[in-house]
Amino acid sequence: MVKKIAILTSGGDCAGLNAVIRAVTLRAHNKYNWEIYGIKDGTLGLLKEPLDVIKLNPQNFEGSLMRMGGTFLGSNNKGNPFKKIIRNGKKIDSSDLVIEGFKKLGIDALIGIGGDGSLKILQSITKKGNINFVGIPKTIDNDVKHNELSIGYDTAVDVATNALDMLQPTAASHRRVMILEVMGRDAGHIALNAGIAGGADVILIPEIQYSIKSIADHIEKLRSKGRNHALIVVAEAVKKENGKKATVKYVDGEVRLGGIGNYLGDAIYKITDSETRVTVLGHVQRGAQPTHRDRLIASAFGVHAVDLIAKKKFNRVVIWKDRGVQDLMLSQVAGYSKTVQKNDPLIKVAEGLGIYIGETN
Ligand code: F6P
Repeated sequence: MVKKIAILTSGGDCAGLNAVIRAVTLRAHNKYNWEIYGIKDGTLGLLKEPLDVIKLNPQNFEGSLMRMGGTFLGSNNKGNPFKKIIRNGKKIDSSDLVIEGFKKLGIDALIGIGGDGSLKILQSITKKGNINFVGIPKTIDNDVKHNELSIGYDTAVDVATNALDMLQPTAASHRRVMILEVMGRDAGHIALNAGIAGGADVILIPEIQYSIKSIADHIEKLRSKGRNHALIVVAEAVKKENGKKATVKYVDGEVRLGGIGNYLGDAIYKITDSETRVTVLGHVQRGAQPTHRDRLIASAFGVHAVDLIAKKKFNRVVIWKDRGVQDLMLSQVAGYSKTVQKNDPLIKVAEGLGIYIGETN
């Protein structure tokens, strides 16, 4: 008999996480009368002494929490527990400590909310610790395999679309080419969707090669027809023409994606008559209030995940498919990614609208 479950959010945060924690809590409490514990900061809460966990009740969600971005449980996208950490001068694999934390908590099952990477790590930990597990996909990148929509993606696309709406008037006022750099890691879903919805003239995604010359020709063509400005959306992992990704080395020594917008801005400025300006949208794509769609998916995922536990269907992950919630074996999803395919119908839509989307032929 399941009596006690835990929930954690792992990896980069996004909009809709509080809504899914709420859905899990309401379903587990109201339908099954289980105890629910929220683990703080991904698996980090399990390494604390005493454990950093909070008991969740429907009352926690009577206020505005479900409408807010972020995750009130906190998350962590650094520190894979299987990688060695230093403790008391010794290098240790912290996965055993995390498992020990789960055992201390004494749960019958865990719901983990994460992207492809986090789901893979949680799969390994729960397998090693023999912990019953159900996964829920979230990521603004929308790159979880077999899953049409991850929690947080719709909101991120909305934010990027709004940014284009706000860039267009200022682009037109100053006759400029505005470049918007969006997130998405190695997948171009945010750029492609927001680019179409936000009326971009050029959309660049990591999955399709482009040439600066073709972008310049496209802008000149628009100008020759009387347009005084242009909008370009570029995904952060688009490579420079030399085939290298644009990256930034941070003070912590980590190399992160960043800079492709500026690279394009300079290149286009040099070979066209257009003045360029660059906006890097960054983490605002993650912190906004969730759209209705993200709240709906989060709610459906949360209820379904709890019902899977009630049926003792473990090692499953919930997915969104054909306008509803389904579930698959975790091994079919965890660790795999989903990028934009060459035959994605939206590529045809973009081309049909006259958008330059790279060298597709
Ligand atoms: O995976 C989500 C994501 O927002 C990516 O789109 C982005 O590249 C990355 O996380 C940013 O991570 P961080 O929060 O560490 O800057």
